[in-house]
Amino acid sequence: MGKAFIFGVSVSGENFTDRVEETKRIRMNFENGLNTILISPRRIGKTSLVNRVCDCMADVEGIQTVRMDVYDCRNEYDFYNKFAASILKATSSRMEHAVETAKEFLGRIVPKISISPDPASEYSISLGIRPKDISPEEVLSLPERIAEKKDIRLVICIDEFQQVGDFPDSVNVQKRLRAVWQHQKRTSYCLYGSKKHMMENLFQSRRMPFYQFGDTIYLGNIPVEEWVPYIRTRFEAKEKKISENLAAEICRMVDNHSSYVQQLAWNVMIETESEATRQNLKDAVHKLIAQSSPLFIQQAENLSSYQMNFLKAVSAGINDGFGRRSVIEDFNLGSKSNIARLVNSLTDKELIDKTKAGVFFADPVFRLWFQSEYGTVSAHFSGLL
Ligand SMILES: Nc1ncnc2c1ncn2[C@@H]1O[C@H](COP(=O)(O)OP(=O)(O)OP(=O)(O)O)[C@@H](O)[C@H]1O
Ligand SMILES: [Mg+2]
Repeated sequence: MGKAFIFGVSVSGENFTDRVEETKRIRMNFENGLNTILISPRRIGKTSLVNRVCDCMADVEGIQTVRMDVYDCRNEYDFYNKFAASILKATSSRMEHAVETAKEFLGRIVPKISISPDPASEYSISLGIRPKDISPEEVLSLPERIAEKKDIRLVICIDEFQQVGDFPDSVNVQKRLRAVWQHQKRTSYCLYGSKKHMMENLFQSRRMPFYQFGDTIYLGNIPVEEWVPYIRTRFEAKEKKISENLAAEICRMVDNHSSYVQQLAWNVMIETESEATRQNLKDAVHKLIAQSSPLFIQQAENLSSYQMNFLKAVSAGINDGFGRRSVIEDFNLGSKSNIARLVNSLTDKELIDKTKAGVFFADPVFRLWFQSEYGTVSAHFSGLL
C-alpha cells in the first residue's frame, strides 16, 4: 500500500471506497444512452466516481467514454476547442487517425499535434477553432458523426461544467448545446462540476435550457459504516491502531465529507504513536483547522457585518426561521427583508448551503474554524476544539 490517506486529488483503485449504488446507476445510464447530471458539494467525490465508471466500462464493446475538464474554458470557443480535441483524441487509437478524422468532420481545421511531455498521454491535440472557421453546430455534432462512422455509442463526460454558466452570452450558448445534443442518438452526456450552487442554477430552473436534461443525481456522503473499516485498515497497514469509536468520531467531526475525512484521518495517523488517542484526534483537528484557516480568514474578511452575523446565527444552531423577531434582534440581522439577500449572497459565495432541512455551513471545516473563532461551539465538539 502506498499513501495511507489521499485527499485533494481524485482517487481510484483500492483508494476508492463504497459508491456501489451510484456506480451501478451511472453505469446503467451510460449503457442506455441516458444523460446524467451529477451534483454535490465540493470534494465529495464526483470526479473520482465518474472516473471509476469510465474505467469499469473500458472493456465494454461498442461504447466509448470520453472525459474532459473544462475548468480553463472562458468562452464558447474555448469550450468547442476542448470538446473537439478531447473527442478526437479519445476516439483515435493513433495520432494519424485523429488528423484524418478532423479533416473529415471539421473541414478547414488543421489540428496541431504536439508530442506531450506527460508520460500518461503520448500526444496532445490543439485545434485553434475560431468563430469564422466553423459553426458551433458543426463542432457539437462531431461526436455523433464519429459514433455513426465507427458504429459505436459515445458517452461524453464533462467535468467543471458550471464554467459554461459564466461564459459571455451564456444562456444562448446553453441553448445551442442543448439544441444539438438532445437530438443525438448515439451520444449521451454526463455533466458534473465542483460549484454546487452554479450547477443547480444551470439544471434546476425551468427557465434554463438544461432543465430536465437527464437523470440528476445528488451525490451524498459516504456513510460512517464505510469509512470506519476503511480508516482502520489503513492504520493497520502502517502498524498502528484506531478504535471504531475514534474512527467514527473523525467522520462526525467533518460531517462525513470525503476529502476532509481522509485529511483528518491522515492528521490523526501522524499524531499517533501506536494506538490513536482522543488527544491525538484533538491535535489533528487543530492542525486541520490551521491548514485551512488562511483561506477562511480571507473569506471572512470579505463579508459584511450582516453576513457575519448571519453566520453566527447558523453557527449557534439556528437553521431556519431567521425572520423571527427574536433571531433578528439577537443576531442583529437588520430588517426581515434583508434575510433573503443574506441567504442568497452567502450561497453565492458557497459558504452556506440551503437544503430542505434548513441552512447549514457548506464546508464542515469552515464551520469548525468559525466556531472556534467566534466561540459558538456545540456541546458535541466542545471537548475537541
Ligand atoms: N469513493 C471514494 N473513496 C474514498 N475517498 C474518496 C472517494 N471519493 C472522494 N474521496 C475523497 O475526496 C477527495 C476529492 O475527490 P474528488 O476530486 O473525486 O471530488 P470532487 O467532488 O470531484 O471534488 P471537486 O468538487 O473539487 O471537483 C479525494 O481526494 C478523496 O480524499
Ligand atoms: Mg471534481
